[in-house]
Amino acid sequence: MKKRENWGSKIGLILAMAGNAIGLGNFWRFPYVAAKNGGGAFMLPYIAALFLLGIPIVLIEWMQGRYGGKHGHGTLGYMIYLQSREKLKPKKAIILGSICGMIVISVTVLLNSYYNHIIGWTLGYSIFSLNGKLMDPGVSTGQFFVNYVTNPSLVFIFWIISLGFLAFAVTRGIQKGIEAWAKIMMPILYIFGFILIIKSLTIGSPVKPEWSALKGLNYLWAPRWAELNWQSTLAACGQIFFTLSIGMGIIQNYASYIKEDDDIVLSALTTLSLNEFAEVILGGTIVIPICYAFLGADGLSQSIGLTFMSLPNIFRVIGAGRFIGFLWFLLLFCAGITSAIAMYNYLVAIIEEDIGFCRKKASLVVFALYIIVGLPVGLEQLVTKDATFIYFTEIDNWVGNYLLVIMGLIEVIVTGWIMKDSFLDEVNRGSYWKVPKWVYNVLIKFITPIVMVTVLIGSTNDYIKQGYFKLIPDFVAETPKLIPWVNGARIVLLLVFIFGFIGTYKSIKNVYGEEIRTNTIKITNTKNS
Ligand code: ALA
Repeated sequence: MKKRENWGSKIGLILAMAGNAIGLGNFWRFPYVAAKNGGGAFMLPYIAALFLLGIPIVLIEWMQGRYGGKHGHGTLGYMIYLQSREKLKPKKAIILGSICGMIVISVTVLLNSYYNHIIGWTLGYSIFSLNGKLMDPGVSTGQFFVNYVTNPSLVFIFWIISLGFLAFAVTRGIQKGIEAWAKIMMPILYIFGFILIIKSLTIGSPVKPEWSALKGLNYLWAPRWAELNWQSTLAACGQIFFTLSIGMGIIQNYASYIKEDDDIVLSALTTLSLNEFAEVILGGTIVIPICYAFLGADGLSQSIGLTFMSLPNIFRVIGAGRFIGFLWFLLLFCAGITSAIAMYNYLVAIIEEDIGFCRKKASLVVFALYIIVGLPVGLEQLVTKDATFIYFTEIDNWVGNYLLVIMGLIEVIVTGWIMKDSFLDEVNRGSYWKVPKWVYNVLIKFITPIVMVTVLIGSTNDYIKQGYFKLIPDFVAETPKLIPWVNGARIVLLLVFIFGFIGTYKSIKNVYGEEIRTNTIKITNTKNS
């Protein structure tokens, strides 16, 4: 078996893993999801979800990844197969492994298909902020956004530059590519974040005395029990999954490059803390207070437009706005790239390990794949000549939300109920801090799966109510010209599912064919076999 690469240093691993988690979710998604769900009413379920779902699943994923790496695998299908084959027997374990492989392939292919476009926008916006084009008072920021996303040259140039950047970094490998870029981009992100926080908190009350940055912070942090509802609870759980990159297979992939006895508990908790700091402190303290000071609470409910429309309005009027806007969009670019790179690397790992291509060739294949799956995301606005994001929304509804929860639930059940090796021995090996027994016996076995099943039932119910399961979902029912974009998204998702399932099944069978045929375990350590 080919020797797998390892991380070059502990700091490199932590920064790469932090980069994996810290992404557009922290700075672009968190502020609008929190604002849309009532700020203070959102933070309570958010913190509960962090402790009940986020921390246990992150520990499970690091454990699964290092375990997979020990057996020479960097992708989830194999890891789930290996951890469930004793109890389920190989014939059933391969089915479970293939379902998991299928889910994470669809997430890494399709979530990244729109994620890369947003990264492209942030790159374009950073340049237009610096050169002043974004500051033109003759064009509203809303119109500027529409003009941008309906302009093929802008959309495609910045998108392809971003993809090229990813391809270049991933081709260089784990240490020279991913780790090296994380060491550059993560410090930049924190430095820019601190500069922007200072700007945000010193903005005063420029529009109305009752609107100030501090009031904005209060809006986020004052718990409003009465507004707490099911919707904000689901949104909070979804945000925890998205921001921590759980249920995507990409934590396991990065963890597979950790050496067999290297610490994972402290490293996992450190990266989780870095992510939460970036999300709640940097993400929450930059966007919400600054927008609150200018627009008040009502102005915060602009969803996606918060970053690309509301904030540019503010950059137009504050001192050094061009430069501040440039820093903000470049920060988003760095955050996005270091997460997209993890999804990119997941697919490269599949091709390298299963087809045997060299990294460069695998990286080129993935580049071509992202061009193909990313085309409809950008084409939609060119065809509708408007900022419609129906294809993107439909894909995001499934791969950016629903599937992550399903994947997380399977991982927890495999670890709590199916895996034969002791979770505690596996996770605590080489660890500076040891995970206590109750985390496994109480949290992982019972509380986390029960909360997850509840979340899944709630989400399913919510999706049914919102008409997402209908042949023609409610959000396009009134606009027939947009229906093909939903159908297109569903067909693409189905194709990726089929391809992902068959591909994973074949790969597992290739390596473990003999034990699947006889339904008995024969290979105990693939790496040394
Ligand atoms: N965890 C990544 C983000 O927050 C995917 O954007």
